[in-house]
Amino acid sequence: MRELVVEAPAKINLTLDVVGKRTDGYHELETVMHQINLVDTIHLKKDLKGINVNSNSNLIPLDENNLAYQAAAKMFKNYHIKEGIYIFIEKRIPVGAGLAGGSTDAAAVIIGINKLYELKADQNDIMQLAASIGSDVPFCVLGGTAMARGRGEILQPLASTLNLSMVLVKPDFQLSTAEVYRAFNLNKVETRPDNTAFLDTWKNCDIIGVTKNIANVLESVSIRKHGEIALIKQKLIQLGALNALMSGSGPSVFGIFIDKRSAQQAGEIMKKDYNEVYVVSSYI
Ligand code: C5P
Repeated sequence: MRELVVEAPAKINLTLDVVGKRTDGYHELETVMHQINLVDTIHLKKDLKGINVNSNSNLIPLDENNLAYQAAAKMFKNYHIKEGIYIFIEKRIPVGAGLAGGSTDAAAVIIGINKLYELKADQNDIMQLAASIGSDVPFCVLGGTAMARGRGEILQPLASTLNLSMVLVKPDFQLSTAEVYRAFNLNKVETRPDNTAFLDTWKNCDIIGVTKNIANVLESVSIRKHGEIALIKQKLIQLGALNALMSGSGPSVFGIFIDKRSAQQAGEIMKKDYNEVYVVSSYI
């Protein structure tokens, strides 16, 4: 095999709670991550020498600052691969949006190199390598839906037959995850998720219960800075969403609808006011 194409789905956080500050500066999380069918496509091709990254997007770095580049470099080093690789990132996931776009590209490169070079790498080793690239990368390797704890690397897969219909809106600005966490103050949080209640409703495929229990403590930082996030949530709910929430550190907002038709109708209306609106569902 000389080439391979891998899908890299975006994620949203259905819940996100900060349960402590760690000595390494990171925050201790309890968050439910969920992949959606908004995907980048990663094209991998064996090459003679070096790591070459290219993309249809001019919003991402093509050098060692790109997480996909870092993933390739670490895989090549750890598994003593002497050849080179060409990586083309067909970008669809908005950048700096709270959707793990960079992390999922890195995860796809890890999965892809493992297949392309028939490494049969140990799953624990892969997950450790993933965590060394970024907190969301292990989840992106695992995929589906999972409760993530620790920095985000301790994962509990969550089975469900729920297929969520959503409208995702990315406002015209980006947020830095590091800055949002730096400004986070638990005393300023109004609503924390009840993850136990969420997991119960998730297990029972109770869509109404699930939507009642979505919550993200990082909204307290991002909404204070950008009121537009709250406005988008409000609009999605007015258009029939069962509930709406910011994903990750933002600024993307998703509204969950009872079915695909209602999501499509609301999506058409949101497109009149916002440039980046996606009607999406769970990645199955
Ligand atoms: O791990 P990653 O590089 O993706 O994290 C980006 C930034 O988000 C970190 O530098 C840190 O400031 C913050 N972060 C955190 N606690 C986490 C995950 C990320 O404080 N659990």
